[in-house]
Amino acid sequence: MNQAFGEDRTATARAHSNIALIKYWGKRDAELNIPAVGSISLTLDGLSTDTRVTFRAGLQQDEFWLAGNRVDATRVTRFLDLVRGSAGLDSRAVVESTNNFPTAAGLASSASGFAALAVAASAAAGLSLDDRQLSILARRGSGSAARSLFGGLVELHAGTRSDGLDSFAEPVLPPEAWPLNVVVAITELGQKSVNSTVGMGESALTSPFYPAWVETGENDLAAMRLAIANRNFEQLGQLAEHSCLKLHALMMSTRPALVYWNAGTMAAMHSVLELRASGIPVYFTIDAGPQVKALCLPEHASGVADALGRVVGVHETKVSALGSGAHLLS
Ligand code: PMV
Repeated sequence: MNQAFGEDRTATARAHSNIALIKYWGKRDAELNIPAVGSISLTLDGLSTDTRVTFRAGLQQDEFWLAGNRVDATRVTRFLDLVRGSAGLDSRAVVESTNNFPTAAGLASSASGFAALAVAASAAAGLSLDDRQLSILARRGSGSAARSLFGGLVELHAGTRSDGLDSFAEPVLPPEAWPLNVVVAITELGQKSVNSTVGMGESALTSPFYPAWVETGENDLAAMRLAIANRNFEQLGQLAEHSCLKLHALMMSTRPALVYWNAGTMAAMHSVLELRASGIPVYFTIDAGPQVKALCLPEHASGVADALGRVVGVHETKVSALGSGAHLLS
């Protein structure tokens, strides 16, 4: 028997964004949103989403407010239906979310967004889920969101089960274990053109490189785990750049082609290569958008940010350290 609460049930959560070092692209199950390959990421303290979920009896439909503007709630409703189903709850909800960075421009707003939504919605609905269950729930909203449940360095397993219950993220290293910095170079403030779920579906169907992408994923993960265990920053950076460029070769060989880079993206990549040639250990990575994220050690972060800030086409830079996992604020 489903229940409707007589009064508002509310909870607020914060989640940080994350940047994949070994990238995920492609699903082995679209319905359950199970990734075809595993991934390893860094959670960033500088980019976060705060989300309040309020289940309210009598509300006719879910409302989604992003930075104070009412926006399309389709994906939010689909996600909340999972929570309502587990909690035996009928009430619709008001979801109010704010990002402290541009939304949907390749800065992983879906990662922090669905991680914050998973934590807030499950708490508001009265579910008590452990971190693994929350990660699996967040994954249903967006693959990268499963990783934002945790701080520091995080691995999301592709798993092999058809129900997806072994496809969850877990921490590899806590944020304090290895201080790393990411300098985000923002080369475009607008929304990206092709959403990642649509893009990865097209890559799987049309790119001749897709089978090789899936086949080589496990080797990349194993090499990255080793680089992290040995705190080998050069190895970590080389592997991250390789995974990034392999992903973009896959995207560009998709039909129609997924070209997420702009001129500023290319200029920022070259600036990173020049800095490296001058002796500064810094490596780039880029997701499904035009922003460039430069990985470096804390002692080089301000120099890297200054250099990237001078690049034509870079609007602003933001330095971020490793952040903590998603958590309730109330
Ligand atoms: O989880 P989604 O749908 O936001 O897709 C993430 C895709 C990449 O950001 C390009 C790679 C990754 O692993 O985060």
